[in-house]
Amino acid sequence: MPFPVARPRRLRQSPAIRALARETTVEPGDLIYPLFFSATLTEPRPIATMPGISQLPVSMAAAEAREAAALGLGGVLLFGLPKNKDADGTSAYDPEGPVPRAVRAMKEAVPELAVITDVCVDEYTDHGHCGILRKNRRGILDVDNDATLEVLAKAAVVYAKAGADIVAPSDMMDGRVGRIRSALDGDGFIETAILSYAVKYASCFYGPFRDAADCAPKFGDRASYQMDPANAREAIREAALDEEEGADFLMVKPALSYLDVIAKVRASSLLPLGAYNVSGEYSMIKAAAAAGMLDETRAVLEVLTSIRRAGADFILTYHAKDAAKLLG
Ligand code: PBG
Repeated sequence: MPFPVARPRRLRQSPAIRALARETTVEPGDLIYPLFFSATLTEPRPIATMPGISQLPVSMAAAEAREAAALGLGGVLLFGLPKNKDADGTSAYDPEGPVPRAVRAMKEAVPELAVITDVCVDEYTDHGHCGILRKNRRGILDVDNDATLEVLAKAAVVYAKAGADIVAPSDMMDGRVGRIRSALDGDGFIETAILSYAVKYASCFYGPFRDAADCAPKFGDRASYQMDPANAREAIREAALDEEEGADFLMVKPALSYLDVIAKVRASSLLPLGAYNVSGEYSMIKAAAAAGMLDETRAVLEVLTSIRRAGADFILTYHAKDAAKLLG
């Protein structure tokens, strides 16, 4: 029945009626806060390209856990800046590395907080790629998929031993979810869950993160392992393969240029789905707000709402603490 009987504005006439008609909510518990723990720092070191975010000494891990819990956040996601890097990223599975140490401190301080560890070697390799290199059949240096799986599996077990609730492989090697699942189960960590960065695009929006985690590739790019931004059907295939291999949660990354992909993956799987509101998406809002171009508070809430509306159950975001305070 069209106008004048149908008047959609009736549903927008007051805050109370708008609240009844609202389809999507964002709560602090939907938000996961990424943290960067350094093996060498004794003080926080601000990241120039990510206003408000710092690399942190491991000694601050317990306090960060308490703050995340007090804000009601859904969890934290840990990245590490190791003392030493080498070609094979062996410090990724050092039990005394910054991530296992931070996990132990956080779980001791707040046992109920969901602690997630990123699993990838790019922070630990001297060349900055997400795996072990070898020459491919065209004589070009490339990441060796199957050799990399062994390093990822070792790292996942070390993080599980430290107490991580969830391990989150972000490398985009084929078969890593299955390999990590069998390594965890083989060591008795049947309860440790896997959050797969199942659908991860080769994106320019990771730019600031590569400063934050000191992991920019020293040559080339990640296009031989991360997905082509032009592809959406492939996202469904990647998600389905990871689900078959035993992923407990799926993730799409980045979020904002890929809201259509979030919606498609949501419709194709019954697993809980996350989306990573990545560093470049964060820094764009910070820069625009600092330049007086938009209202930061409204921008953050609108962006987070849009990611939830697209179908994400939870959002990994550097805005998590600020947004939790706004949402009260
Ligand atoms: C790599 C990793 C990256 C991010 C999370 N894990 C960077 C990359 O793939 O280059 C990006 C996160 C962000 O931009 O906020 N292991």
